Amino acid sequence: METLYTPSQTYIDQFDPVDYYNTYYNPEQGAMVEEWVSFVLKNLHETFTSGEIKGDLLIDFGAGPTIYHLLSACEVFSNIITSDFLEQNRIQLQKWLRKDPDALDWTHIVKFVCELEGNSENLEKKEEKLRRTVSKVLKCDALKSNPFDPVEMPQADCLISCLCLEAPCKDVESFTDVLRKLKDFIKPGGHIVIQSVLNCRFYYIGQKQFSCLSLTREELERAFKEAGYEIVKVKVAPRLKKLSMDVTDFGSYYYVHGRKPCS
Ligand SMILES: C[S@@+](CC[C@H](N)C(=O)[O-])C[C@H]1O[C@@H](n2cnc3c(N)ncnc32)[C@H](O)[C@@H]1O
Repeated sequence: METLYTPSQTYIDQFDPVDYYNTYYNPEQGAMVEEWVSFVLKNLHETFTSGEIKGDLLIDFGAGPTIYHLLSACEVFSNIITSDFLEQNRIQLQKWLRKDPDALDWTHIVKFVCELEGNSENLEKKEEKLRRTVSKVLKCDALKSNPFDPVEMPQADCLISCLCLEAPCKDVESFTDVLRKLKDFIKPGGHIVIQSVLNCRFYYIGQKQFSCLSLTREELERAFKEAGYEIVKVKVAPRLKKLSMDVTDFGSYYYVHGRKPCS
C-alpha cells in the first residue's frame, strides 16, 4: 500500500487532538495505551532515575496534545519547555496545565508513572509537580531552518521527543537534518532521547490517514551518527499483536539515547 506524504497544511487542517487522544491514549480503547505507553514510560523512568541525565532545562519537541512523556522528567529537571507544531495541540496542552474542566484526562497514565516510582498514592501531587515545572508551550516546526523561530532558545541539558520526527520528515536525509538542527538546542555534553516506531508507513486518526517516515534500525542509528551524536543506548522492542494493523502499521518500538559531544 502506498502512503502519500502528509504535508504541514493537512496537519493544520485535519489533525484533531481529541480524536488523536481517543484513538491512541483513551483509557478504554486507546491503541497506544498498553504496549507503547509501557515501553516509553519504563524507558523514561529508567533514564531519569539512573542519575546519568540531569540539569535544569529539558526541551520537549513535538508533544502533540500529550504530557505522558514528561511525568518522569519533572522529577529531575526544574524547567521544562514543551512544544508542538499545531495550535490546536498547544491549546490542549494549555488546558491541561490550567486544569480546565474539559482538558484531556491523563490520570490513568499518571497512575502508571506513580506506580513505577513506588508512589501510587500521590497522583494529584504528581500532576501539580509537572504543571509547575512546565514553563512554556512553544510552537516548533521541524522543517524550518530554526525550528523555534522567532523565539531565542537557551540550550538544554536534555531534549526529548516522542512519535514526532517521522511525521514531518519525508526521507532519511530530512530526518538526519532535523536531528542535526536539534543539536543547536542542546548544551555540549547534553543528551537527546528520542522514542518512536520503526517500519511505519501510516497512522489513522478516525478516517484520516497520516504518513510516517518508515525507518529501519540501521537507518536510525546512521542518522544519529551522521547528525553528530554519540549513541549511548538503543533499544528496539517488537510490536506485540494487541493492536490492529489497520490503525497503524509499525513493526517495532525504538528508544535512542544520544549525546552531543563536548567539543
Ligand atoms: C503522531 S503525533 C505525536 C504526538 C505526541 N508526541 C505523542 O507522543 O503522541 C505527530 C506530531 O507531529 C507533529 N508535527 C507535524 N508536523 C510537524 C512539523 N513540521 N514540525 C514539528 N512537529 C510536527 C504534529 O503536530 C503531531 O503532534
